[in-house]
Amino acid sequence: MTSNVKTVNVALCGAGIVGGGVCQIIKERQEVFKTLGIQFNIKTILVRNVSKKRDFELPAGAKLTDNVEDIFSDDSIDLIVEVMGGLGAAKTVVFGGLKAKKSVVTANKALISYHLNEIEELVNTFSKDGSRFAFEAAVGGGIPVIKSLQRDIIGADDVMQVSGILNGTTNYMLTKMDQTGCSYEAALKEAQDLGFAEADPTADVEGHDARSKISLLCRLTLGVWIKDEDISCTGISTLTADDFEYAKILRSKIKLLGICKKVNNGTGAEIYVSPVIVPISNTISSTNGATNIVEVRSKYLGTTYYVGAGAGRFPTATSIVGDMLEISLNKSPKPFPLKQNLTQHTDYPGRFYIRINIRDATGIIRTVGAICENEGVSIHSVLQIPITDKQNVPFVITTDETLASKVKVVVDSLEKQPWCLKRPVALPFL
Ligand SMILES: NC(=O)c1ccc[n+]([C@@H]2O[C@H](COP(=O)([O-])OP(=O)(O)OC[C@H]3O[C@@H](n4cnc5c(N)ncnc54)[C@H](OP(=O)(O)O)[C@@H]3O)[C@@H](O)[C@H]2O)c1
Repeated sequence: MTSNVKTVNVALCGAGIVGGGVCQIIKERQEVFKTLGIQFNIKTILVRNVSKKRDFELPAGAKLTDNVEDIFSDDSIDLIVEVMGGLGAAKTVVFGGLKAKKSVVTANKALISYHLNEIEELVNTFSKDGSRFAFEAAVGGGIPVIKSLQRDIIGADDVMQVSGILNGTTNYMLTKMDQTGCSYEAALKEAQDLGFAEADPTADVEGHDARSKISLLCRLTLGVWIKDEDISCTGISTLTADDFEYAKILRSKIKLLGICKKVNNGTGAEIYVSPVIVPISNTISSTNGATNIVEVRSKYLGTTYYVGAGAGRFPTATSIVGDMLEISLNKSPKPFPLKQNLTQHTDYPGRFYIRINIRDATGIIRTVGAICENEGVSIHSVLQIPITDKQNVPFVITTDETLASKVKVVVDSLEKQPWCLKRPVALPFL
């Protein structure tokens, strides 16, 4: 039996949260892998600081190094696992690995979404030599959404829309704000204290992390790559406790979503990241805490949901080890099976929620109405929670179906009014 087991030599680049999980799962499940005909030998581990104490047991015999050349100069390495993060050394490892005709597994959504064309070119060039590229952990951590799409959905079905809660930190914060009525600042502090949010939370709270993930999902499902910088992206840092009070009146929740969809009879693609007003009747609204969810609407299957742990040592490491196994067993699907020529539509239609903070005075509603009318935006409703401070009254209008570009002009115009205290916040309805 043992003679039929293939040893796969692995270079593990990164030994932090995810890297530690990969080592532990491999240690615990090696006997199961052997029954599948594979055993992993973690030969080299690349880190920044070789003398740092690790919070997991290093694999026996593994060489710890801070020199990437130790990996490239070792011809016996079959598989490179990149779990370092960032766009610097991680790029050297992923690009260098593919060029050296080695298979590469990565969890690095920022790197893939930023360099997608180059990575695809390298993969196409070198896959004929047997090397493979897999990135299940890059979107939704432990949720098996990437391979399900690559293998089962794309091709047989025609994906029309993907919407997802793709960032656990912000979903944790939004859930807290919804359930306790706390401020954005208090929710962020709690997330940081619990280790959900980084000391510099920008990538999470400004939506950049979700943007990289929806860019990948868009490339995968709609077959078109839209660069991060071309994706409209609004984070959650301007939300206040008032928005959650208004969302309750609207029988809705507020969720930070990445959305991509086909528009214009399937000839165009629309993509954005924004906090969205989600009716409580929609499954996405009940996805709370650090949980992620991806909703896929496709022509033949209808609506499917992929829900689970979007981050964390073991959930993320399972996706990595799953990719390692599939590659080693020669069963990994084509990374980007679909390519389509869709034009990006930067504007998008929808109903919108606009929260305006005003100093109370007469005639404001009339002016707001006139500004909306000028832009052809029809007001659906005007909402106002009881006033507690006449110097700062948050009131809300909701619109009928209109265009995001028109709402932006309305917001620009409202912001200039003498009674408007800060830039109004506009959120689309799902
Ligand atoms: N954490 C999660 O739940 C999660 C979920 C999904 C995806 N991911 C992705 O997985 C990747 C890793 O995340 P993580 O949370 O495991 O990160 P982490 O805990 O910060 O670990 C990063 C590891 O990479 C090493 N490293 C960083 N820069 C390096 C460099 N220039 N040269 C050599 N080694 C370097 C570090 O070495 P030292 O230990 O010596 O500093 C550390 O071991 C990221 O791309 C992240 O976006 C993470």
